[in-house]
Amino acid sequence: MKQSDIYKLHQKYAHGKYKKEILEIVWTHSLIVKNISLQIADNLEKNYSIKTDKKLIEIGALIHDIGFYDCFDDDYKNKCEYVLHGKTGYEILIKKGVSKKRARFALAHVGVGFENDIPITLEEEIVCYADNFHSKGHPRFNSFEESMEEMIKINPDFGVILNRFKDKFGIPDVKELKEKYKKWHEEINEWVEGVK
Ligand SMILES: [Fe+2]
Repeated sequence: MKQSDIYKLHQKYAHGKYKKEILEIVWTHSLIVKNISLQIADNLEKNYSIKTDKKLIEIGALIHDIGFYDCFDDDYKNKCEYVLHGKTGYEILIKKGVSKKRARFALAHVGVGFENDIPITLEEEIVCYADNFHSKGHPRFNSFEESMEEMIKINPDFGVILNRFKDKFGIPDVKELKEKYKKWHEEINEWVEGVK
């Protein structure tokens, strides 16, 4: 699966009157999650000589939110519970002939894992954890503490799991990414404020 093919898949599932902007938000978020995930994988290798499948991580990060679009109607209003976008994404990917191994990145990425759909492999855990450092709703980077606060609000157990991820993978450095996407965040948030 090439990056350009995955982008085409996003183009296919983005819809509605704000298709262009929503596609841009989800795709940019996916690229950011890919970048953070690879940084975590590199650190694991450098610090502990633990090797991961980086190609799989890249693909997983780029497809993990493919179910996002189906959670909204054509006016960008929620039409299903947001936590279900992982399962929806998994079903879309399986239908498209994507392997279970890859489709699971969608299934098991929501929060720190949701109900029985929790990340199992190191690669799945890395993408799931990396996803916590960037939000799509009002696009922004989140610090570890901000993510933790959100997780605890949903379920204190999720906070415990997030802490375990931190112990395992450390806290990624997003300084450069913040700088790179600073202008994009300013512009896209202006758009978000206008439609929400
Ligand atoms: Fe995500």
